Amino acid sequence: MPVETLISADIIAARVRELGREIAERYQGRSVVLVAVLKGSFVFAADLARAIDERVALEVEFMAVRSYGDATETSGVVQITSDLTRSIEGKHVILVEDIVDTGLTMAYLLDNLRTRGPASLELCALLQKPARARIPVDIDYLGFTIDDVFVVGYGLDHAQQLRNLPYLGVVSEGE
Ligand code: IMP
Ligand code: MG
Repeated sequence: MPVETLISADIIAARVRELGREIAERYQGRSVVLVAVLKGSFVFAADLARAIDERVALEVEFMAVRSYGDATETSGVVQITSDLTRSIEGKHVILVEDIVDTGLTMAYLLDNLRTRGPASLELCALLQKPARARIPVDIDYLGFTIDDVFVVGYGLDHAQQLRNLPYLGVVSEGE
């Protein structure tokens, strides 16, 4: 499937390093739980975690949600398919997401995590598509703002494939 590069691996790496530095500076001397939202954020979260230096006592946890099926339009229904295995009560939590599109998934997850009593809750998203926003979501750390195109690679999929591309790309029309 032909894919056009939207954001190169080098540009992603530089931005992820900046986000990691920002988080490390803000949370130095404290412990933080990085909660990666599977599957889409697995690559981003792995790089982001390594961009946060040892000034932060970092833990990594995972959640999986489903809102899409294999279509490229959101169903509006968010389902937690795999939950945290540890409590986040009293902890500083940063939710790590690949992309905020309509915002429905993050609005739902942030509300859900807030009920569990974290000391603080922030959101770090690699990408945001403001043109498609249906519900406002406050993103504390954002990699890139993109146009209304369907992106793949660096963890993001099209029908479960292309997550392995080291860059962010757009699938060419009609292929
Ligand atoms: P939202 O609930 O509409 O904000 O959708 C968020 C989820 O949809 C993301 O976590 C992605 O898994 C998926 N998604 C949205 N836009 C794209 C895209 O352009 N490429 C791949 N997945 C996307
Ligand atoms: Mg996702």
